[in-house]
This record gives sequence, structure tokens and C-alpha cells, in this order.
Amino acid sequence: MKKSILVVGGTDGIGKAVALGMAAEGYSVTVIGRSRPKGEQVLNLLRTLYPEGSHHFLAADVSRLGSLPPLVAGIQSLGQAYEVILHSADVLKTAREETAEGLEVCIATNFYARVLLNALLVEQGESPPKRVIHVAAAGFPPGKAFRRNFPIPKTASSFRGHGIGQIANDFYGLYCAGQWRSRNVKVNILNPGIVDTDIRRNSSFPKWFMRLEPVIGFLMRPITQTPEQYARIVTAIALGSNPAADSAVLINARGKPITPSRYLLDEQTQQYVVGAAREEINATLHGEVI
Ligand SMILES: NC(=O)c1ccc[n+]([C@@H]2O[C@H](COP(=O)([O-])OP(=O)(O)OC[C@H]3O[C@@H](n4cnc5c(N)ncnc54)[C@H](OP(=O)(O)O)[C@@H]3O)[C@@H](O)[C@H]2O)c1
Repeated sequence: MKKSILVVGGTDGIGKAVALGMAAEGYSVTVIGRSRPKGEQVLNLLRTLYPEGSHHFLAADVSRLGSLPPLVAGIQSLGQAYEVILHSADVLKTAREETAEGLEVCIATNFYARVLLNALLVEQGESPPKRVIHVAAAGFPPGKAFRRNFPIPKTASSFRGHGIGQIANDFYGLYCAGQWRSRNVKVNILNPGIVDTDIRRNSSFPKWFMRLEPVIGFLMRPITQTPEQYARIVTAIALGSNPAADSAVLINARGKPITPSRYLLDEQTQQYVVGAAREEINATLHGEVI
């Protein structure tokens, strides 16, 4: 059987570019995303360009935590043993938006969904992957207020939820690296720097900011990567051909290790973040699922 990768948030942006990059390396690819038209288009590309792989698309809104156990059953029914799981699903909102389950939508997408999917696929799954990769914003300074803001207050804006979710990925990744070592599962939390995707253009920033966005994009061009350029860095990590990513958890936009701050390495805070996330997830699911 061919090696396979599961790309959560693979219908667009970085996830889509990595999905195509991994298929070019001979992997079978399963893509998850909300949009059926975008998902069908990626699936078409995968099947046309790389017909030797066994490629799939499953439509799902991962911010709805209740939909994740059935999604995992659907993933498992495809019969693939995923060598790599890549989390790239995220949305960027400003004013507070909530999921139908009452969670702030950004942190539900970029953190809680990842924790729950990993619990079901890696910790409770029969054939855990060799590597789990989160595309987030690794190394963003947590600041002293982080712990007061996690779990985020019920009135927090989605912009705050987004940032706190990104930082929580770092604590969680460093915690999992220790927990998953005995199961030979590596974990990397990535900071892509600036990649030219639609995440900001699809966001809900004020009109004045959106008018300025093309100008900001132009000024940032010298430090901006295309999704395909950045996907080469992620693909090297996924294939195990970036030795830095075998020893470091946090990885920067050029594929180099980021030294975690002392605060990020604090085991009590790591445990606190993971414990609080599990409580929030179980409360949302009305049971002890993880
Ligand atoms: N681009 C950058 O400059 C940059 C910088 C720093 C960090 N990052 C991080 O990199 C990651 C990828 O971002 P990107 O720039 O590639 O974003 P993007 O182009 O907007 O892609 C996001 C992907 O996530 C999927 N998605 C969003 N919400 C979902 C949901 N509820 N359920 C399932 N899938 C969902 C989207 O597909 P559907 O619309 O089909 O659901 C899409 O495939 C994010 O974690 C982001 O924070 C990006």
C-alpha cells in the first residue's frame, strides 16, 4: 500500500499546496475541508495529476466538535494507515463569532479541533501516524497574560481567540512531543511567516483595513512566500528529510528550529493548557470523550 497523508484544511492555501506536493512524492492524500466545490477541485487535480495514489475528499466543518467522532469514523473507513497528519484548517475573524456549539470559532478551528482529532486518531487510533504537523504561528510570544486568557473568556473577540489558539498550539505540541515519544510519533508546530493565501482576504477585518490590504501585501512582497514555495518546506518535514524537524518541535518559515521560551517549556503550564482544552472539549461533547 502507498504511504498516505491526511490534510485537515487541504482545500485551499498551504494545506492544498502540501496535499499536491505530497501526492507528487507518491503519497495517497485524504483532504478535509468545508467547501465541496474546492474539495472536488483538489480531488480532481490529485486524481488527474497523480492517478497512482488513492485520493479522497471528505467535506466537514471541523469547528463543530460534535461532528469529529463521525468524521474520524469516515476517515477510518477509507482503510488508509496515515503516516502523516497535517493540520492546516483555520479561519481569521475579528469580532466575536461563535460555532453552533457556542465556542469562539477561531480557537475551535485552530486548536480544539486539532486536539480532539489527534486524541481520536493518534492517542486512541489503532495505527498512529509517524508525524503530526500543525501549521500555526510557532514561537509567537505568549506574554504573561496567556494563562489568564486560556480558556478564552466568553466575551473574547475572535481576533483574540485566533491568537490564543495559535499560542496554545505551541504548549500542546511541546507537551505531545514528550507524551508521544514512546509511541514513535513526532510532532512539529510550524510558523509559516507570511504566505500569500486568502486567509486575511477572507477574514472580517474592518473595511479600512481591507482597502489597505493590497498595499500591505505589496509592501510585504519581499518576505512573502507562495503556498507552493512554503509547501516545499512542509513537504520536506513530512517526508522526514528535514533533520532539524526530527529534534525540534517548533519550526520557522525557513524550516529551521525555533528555540522555545522558558515559559513555553514550563511543564505545569503545558499540562494546564492540555487539561483545560480537554475539559472544554468534553464539556462541549457532554461526555468524557478524551
Ligand atoms: N498565510 C499566512 O501568511 C499564515 C501566517 C501565519 C500562520 N498561518 C497559518 O497557516 C495555517 C493555514 O493557513 P492558510 O494561510 O493556508 O489559510 P487558508 O488559505 O485560508 O486555508 C485554510 C484551510 O482551512 C480550511 N478550513 C477553514 N475552516 C475550516 C473548518 N471549520 N473545517 C474544515 N476546514 C476548514 C479551508 O477550507 P474550506 O474553506 O474548504 O473549509 C482551507 O482549506 C493556519 O493555521 C494559519 O493560521 C498562515
